[in-house]
Formats: sequence, C-alpha cells, structure tokens
Amino acid sequence: MRNRSNPHCSVPPSYEAALAIVIKADNGRNSIEEEKVKETEKIFQKAMVGTSSCHLFPLLVPAALLLLLLVLFSSSPFTSNQFPQVLSSFSPFRRDETDHTPPPPHVSLDGVLSTFMYKSSAHKAAIIKKKSNPERIEEDLARARAAILKAVQFRNSTSEKEEIFVPKGSIYRNAYAFYQSHAEMVKRFKVWTYREGEPPLFHNGPLNNIYAIEGQFIDEMDSIESPCRARRPDEAHVFFLPLSVTGVVHYVYKPITTVKDYSRDRLQRLVTDYISTVATKYPYWNRSKGADHFMVSCHDWAPEVSNANPELFKHFIRVLCNANTSEGFRPKIDVSLPEIYLPFGKLGPPDLSRSPDHRPILAFFAGSPHGYIRKILMDYWKDKDSEVQVYARLPVNLNYTKMMGQSKFCLCPSGFEVASPREVEAIYAGCVPVVISDNYTLPFSDVLNWSQFSVQIPVGRIPEIKTILQGIPESKYLKMYKRVKRVRRHFELNRPAKPFDVIHMVLHSVWLRRLNFRLSP
Ligand SMILES: *[C@@H]1O[C@H](CO)[C@@H](O)[C@H](O)[C@H]1NC(C)=O
Ligand SMILES: *[C@@H]1O[C@H](CO)[C@@H](O)[C@H](O)[C@H]1NC(C)=O
Ligand SMILES: *[C@@H]1O[C@H](CO)[C@@H](O)[C@H](O)[C@H]1NC(C)=O
Ligand SMILES: *[C@@H]1O[C@H](CO)[C@@H](O)[C@H](O)[C@H]1NC(C)=O
Ligand SMILES: *[C@@H]1O[C@H](CO)[C@@H](O)[C@H](O)[C@H]1NC(C)=O
Ligand SMILES: *[C@@H]1O[C@H](CO)[C@@H](O)[C@H](O)[C@H]1NC(C)=O
Repeated sequence: MRNRSNPHCSVPPSYEAALAIVIKADNGRNSIEEEKVKETEKIFQKAMVGTSSCHLFPLLVPAALLLLLLVLFSSSPFTSNQFPQVLSSFSPFRRDETDHTPPPPHVSLDGVLSTFMYKSSAHKAAIIKKKSNPERIEEDLARARAAILKAVQFRNSTSEKEEIFVPKGSIYRNAYAFYQSHAEMVKRFKVWTYREGEPPLFHNGPLNNIYAIEGQFIDEMDSIESPCRARRPDEAHVFFLPLSVTGVVHYVYKPITTVKDYSRDRLQRLVTDYISTVATKYPYWNRSKGADHFMVSCHDWAPEVSNANPELFKHFIRVLCNANTSEGFRPKIDVSLPEIYLPFGKLGPPDLSRSPDHRPILAFFAGSPHGYIRKILMDYWKDKDSEVQVYARLPVNLNYTKMMGQSKFCLCPSGFEVASPREVEAIYAGCVPVVISDNYTLPFSDVLNWSQFSVQIPVGRIPEIKTILQGIPESKYLKMYKRVKRVRRHFELNRPAKPFDVIHMVLHSVWLRRLNFRLSP
C-alpha cells in the first residue's frame, strides 16, 4: 500500500513529494507498492543529470533524502554536526562519498539518454526517441520532484519567470518547497477535463451562493483560458470529472416528497456510470485505477458518492468542502476545498476591513444554530456578552460584512457539516478566524500553517472562548492579523485564475497528490 497508510507518516504530501509510489495497472492483486529509497535515488539521478550541479549528485541524494526524512520524522532542529553522523549510517550511498567521477558533459536529460543509447545501439536510440507519453510524463514529474527537493535542501528556489509574488514567512509550512512546487506546477501541470456528460449535471455548477466554488472551478476547467488545460488527454497528468453534485441534487432530486427520496443511490449511480463510460472509452482510468482522476464538490452530500463502491474510489481524489475525517475524508488522498460564499454575480464580498485599532468587537458570529456545535455555542454565548457577540439572526440594522471588518476574531463553528464559509469571509475581512470544529481538515493545510493565522478551539472549550481570546497578547494578535492579510491571496477567486489564488491552490493540492506516485508503464 501507499505510505499514506503508514501510521508513522502522518505528514502532508508536500514533504513526501520525493517518495514516489508505483501504480501498476496490470497487476490486479497488489497494484500499488511503496517505492524503495533506491527508486527515489534513481528518479533523483535521472532528474539531476544534466544540471550544472551534477558533480554534487553523489552527496545530493543522501543529503536530500536525509533532509526529507528529518523534516518528516524529527522535530529537533537540523544541526550541521548531526549530518555526518546520520550520513555515515546511511549505508546504501556511502560509496558515493568517495566517487569523484566527473559529471557527464550533457545539458539535458533527453540529450544524455539519446547520446548514450546511440553509442550502444542506434536501434535503441530510435526507441528511446519515441518514448511513450506516459514515460515522458513520469520523467517530467521526476524532474519536478527533484527541483522541489533541491529547493527544500538549499532553501532556495528557481523559476524561469520573474515572479510577482514569492511566498515567504511562517504562514507556510515550508515556503521554499511551496514556491518551487507551485512554479513546477505552473510550468508543467496538465489537466484533462473529460468532455463527456451534458449540462446541467456536467460542465455546469453553481456560480454563486455557498457552493459557488464548485461551479466556478468546473467552469474554469472548461474554459479555454484555464491555467493547466491539457490539449490532448495523452499529455495530461490528471483527469477531471466535471460533475456537479450540487447540480445533481438540484435537478435529479426533484421533487422530494418522502424521506426515501433523499437516498443517495441516484447520485452514486450517476458518478459510477460516468466513470464506467470514460473507463471503457479511454485507457486512463484503468491505467491508474483512478488515482490520477479527481472531482470537485462543495455540496454536503459529495463525500457519499463513493460510499456505495469504496473499492472503485479507493485511489480517486475527492476535492471536498465537507472534509470530515470521521466521515471518511482521507487527508493524504482527498483535498479539502474552502467553502466560499459568493453574492450573485460577484467574486467576493465588499472589502469593509478596518485596521486593527478600529476593531472594537473581540469576537463575532452570526448564523443559524444548526448542527451540534453551534447549539453549544448559542447556549453559552448568544446575547450574553458585548465583547463576544453571537447572533442566531443578525439585527437588520447591522451589516454582516461590516461586523466582521470591525471584529478582531471571527468565530467559525461547523454547522450541518464541518466546513463553513466563515473561514474565508473572516480572511477577506482581516478578522482572525477562530475555528471551532471536530475532525475538520482545513483547506490547503499541506502548504499553510493555520495555527499561525487562526485560533483553533476544541468544541469542549466553547465556554472558555472569551478567556482564551483575551489571553492572546496584543502583539501576538497583531502578528496574526498581518498574516491573515498575507494569506488572503490564497483564498481569492479570480476568473480567469491567477497564480497563487484559490483555483491555483486547489490545483496545487491535486498536483502534490499526483507527485506522490508514479504510473508504471
Ligand atoms: C538563490 O539562488 C539564486 C540563483 O541560483 C541566487 O541568485 C540567490 O542569491 C540565491 N538566494 C539565496 C537566499 O541563497
Ligand atoms: C506551525 O506553527 C506553529 C506555531 O503556531 C509551530 O509550533 C509549528 O512548528 C509550525 N509548523 C510548521 C510545520 O512549521
Ligand atoms: C477498463 O476496465 C473495465 C472493467 O474491468 C473494462 O470493462 C473496460 O473495458 C476497461 N477499459 C479499457 C479501455 O480497456
Ligand atoms: C473526532 O473528534 C473527536 C473529538 O475531538 C475525537 O475524539 C475523535 O477521535 C475524532 N475522530 C477522528 C476519526 O479523528
Ligand atoms: C453591507 O454594506 C456594504 C457596503 O455598504 C454593502 O455593499 C453590502 O451590500 C451590505 N451588506 C448587507 C448584507 O447588507
Ligand atoms: C463529522 O462526522 C461525524 C461522523 O459521521 C459526525 O458525527 C459529525 O457530526 C460530523 N461533524 C460535523 C460538524 O458535521
């Protein structure tokens, strides 16, 4: 199985990027195997050959792997005197330490391979030149992994383009890794959106209201301006199923007269039939057992598409707002999607954000008391306190967006489901989100360190909200406020999408998951 299931390896995919896992299509029993370190070495070697630093290669591999392992498994700071000690116990690569063979004089990977093969056999060279697309794609991904590892190791990143934005600082779990990974994605990542399926269930979706991100994403992927649009399916790294669960619920589940009409079987059949159609027509689904396929949905029911046939969806990437780990959300395979409330015809709310010294309200919440968490919140805080202002219904003379802009902290309790549009609303309003939830995987948490710009309060400590927030020193609050302002870019929606915005963040989450495995020809 994938190392995703390894209990000792609970880190997010960004730091696992080099640990490629092989997915074989032709082996029915145990089709996915964890790659050995040796394999990573090979990938790394291939990818590094031809760069100007290839004389560094013998050291680079163990060093990068070590660093990765240290990042993965150790919380102690990395000191230079630790390095040789661990290195010497890392026997598979020891011989390389004394190996000073000069680097090959070639500049590109293709160059290296074809020259070498030409010398040994002209026939083989011809075969190599006609490398299949899957091979080419895997080599490309190997180069991306190597570039990310290098950026992590040297704490430096390279990009061909002059970037307008460079991620920096503590809001990122690893700013270098993220910057490089995003750059590699923009350079290489190709998504094929299946053309099959008719609107309104496919190629369509809500563009406003609380599920807006679902329709906006589908629309962006179908757009000719889409940032990662593949021209042909055989050049794609991943395949997108352009189904809208919100659309299905809206159009197929009508009318609902009895409780039985809510049964999810119609939704499940639709998705399963779609997969069966594309798996029959094209080789891609069978090749990866769905591991390079994904869907995006903000609807509460979306996680249930896979319940009827867990085996079929075992490797499939579900991008979901409803990222409840108690309901089968798998943080290393699935992607947590932010819920974004969009007013009709707009890409966001008006900006009514005030500066930190013009925020008289300590904490604010307004929303209906559905779900068990909000009930507890209402019981303790509704109409009780002028500093912690909690409303089930906001008085008509108050403006919701303005209230957020005047509050230091915005409470974001889960409702019917774990996700709430409030995290993003708070970020837009420069208000530090206070996440009150259980088993919720926050969006983009393999890249962002949420604890730097939000407060997380377990449900059991709802009575202590005021003391917890008052206990945060002003200086710490100011830091969090500034970080909220900085992280905002990653939650903004642009059409067409712009680098580092929310569409790119979603794509980047899928890209990271794709980097984690290799398809075997
Ligand atoms: C990163 O590398 C670039 C070019 O390789 C170099 O110009 C720059 O100074 C380096 N930055 C750091 C922080 O080392
Ligand atoms: C995230 O931030 C917290 C402090 O808020 C820190 O303790 C932790 O080490 C950070 N995690 C990473 C991966 O940087
Ligand atoms: C993929 O597998 C399914 C089920 O085994 C099969 O029906 C289908 O024909 C296969 N698709 C292709 C393109 O071979
Ligand atoms: C869900 O959250 C509860 C309360 O925090 C915790 O006891 C439980 O272990 C969590 N379940 C999972 C699957 O993480
Ligand atoms: C709040 O005020 C802003 C600016 O005055 C306005 O654009 C917005 O529509 C108001 N919101 C509501 C819910 O009334
Ligand atoms: C998360 O899933 C568990 C298990 O189904 C459920 O009891 C809980 O209410 C869910 N959380 C929220 C906030 O809906």
